[in-house]
Amino acid sequence: MSKPSVKPSRPFFSSGPCAKRPGWSLSALDQALLGRSHRAPEGRARLKEVITRSKDVLGIPADWRVAVVPASDTGAVEMVLWALAGGERGMDVLSFESFSGTWAQDLRDVLKIEDLRVHEAPYGQLPDLSAVDWSRDVVVTWNGTTSGVRLPNADAIPVEHEGLVICDATSAAFAMDLPWDRLDIVTWSWQKALGGEAAHGMLAISPRAATRLAEASPRPLPKIFRLANKKGLMEAVFEGDTINTPSMLCVEDALDGLRWAESVGGLEALKARSQASLAVVAEWVEKTDWVSFLAELPETRSCTSICLKISAPWFEELPPETQGKVVKHLTGLVAQEGAGYDLASYRDAPAGLRIWGGATVNAEDIQALLPWLDWAYECTREEFSA
Ligand SMILES: Cc1ncc(COP(=O)(O)O)c(C=O)c1O
Repeated sequence: MSKPSVKPSRPFFSSGPCAKRPGWSLSALDQALLGRSHRAPEGRARLKEVITRSKDVLGIPADWRVAVVPASDTGAVEMVLWALAGGERGMDVLSFESFSGTWAQDLRDVLKIEDLRVHEAPYGQLPDLSAVDWSRDVVVTWNGTTSGVRLPNADAIPVEHEGLVICDATSAAFAMDLPWDRLDIVTWSWQKALGGEAAHGMLAISPRAATRLAEASPRPLPKIFRLANKKGLMEAVFEGDTINTPSMLCVEDALDGLRWAESVGGLEALKARSQASLAVVAEWVEKTDWVSFLAELPETRSCTSICLKISAPWFEELPPETQGKVVKHLTGLVAQEGAGYDLASYRDAPAGLRIWGGATVNAEDIQALLPWLDWAYECTREEFSA
């Protein structure tokens, strides 16, 4: 097979940090408030602007509180789990790939929560959602970034539910609908769908969640995780008074991403851009005999972290370590040509490919990438079956 001639103009397909928005350059950060205090009125105003623009673009209800919190999405999820788990209410957690598995592991093995139910499924599948007890607090990862499996819709979550639904939405936000009327706590990070810099995370909480978080935690929490004190919820955190010092360069970049999101038409346009990327990949998978989706059901296929397995018999017969080497070789060839970067599946996931199709990626670039994958596959097959 001859080498393709056209390369993606932006060969960036990493699932985090994700591609910057089209047209981004460092000059987008020219107006960053550098060398100034984030607690000065101007600094606080920028942080508040991240909150209000995020609320607007995502369509978060007016009575929800949104905060910029430390340590990216991991920090946002952990501060909630550590504040709530082990209280009076029991917890259910969905575990079906690496990150959702980490939340389950944290609750079970680190926090040692006794009243915990873990709903597990292997890579490619979702756990049985009908087994979830929504009278308990429930931890749901909306899109499993390492398996490319997403919740197909909100149907499984009752609007009326006694517990809190805690949703890790980091690779879903800005690309998929999130049912705010069925969720109580939602988290995401800057480094994902709007291509921001990795730094802080975002935490959105409903009024009911605010009441729960204002209560005393079952355990002492480090300052970096604390959202409440003796007087109750620390409201200032939800007005831009961050718990610790943020990078104002990253804040500016987060604002740039949000302004871009508004300029292309808001959430509907972001979703459409991501769906267009998935459609391009799906069409290719349909006509390609060596590759298939890791997500078993079409309605659970992610449009952001598009995970593929190599379904050729010669590959499937290889031991897992060799499969890993094959994928490294294949993706290495594509990267060496400058035709696509960061295309290997996550280190804990089955060996395969992962193409980020969030809104900052142009579907034409994915279209241009695919012949390179075919070419690299042929070269790799020859190499490994020699
Ligand atoms: C579903 C999910 N949760 C959590 C994380 C961790 O996010 P961060 O590295 O921004 O803390 C990721 C990162 O890819 C993720 O995909």
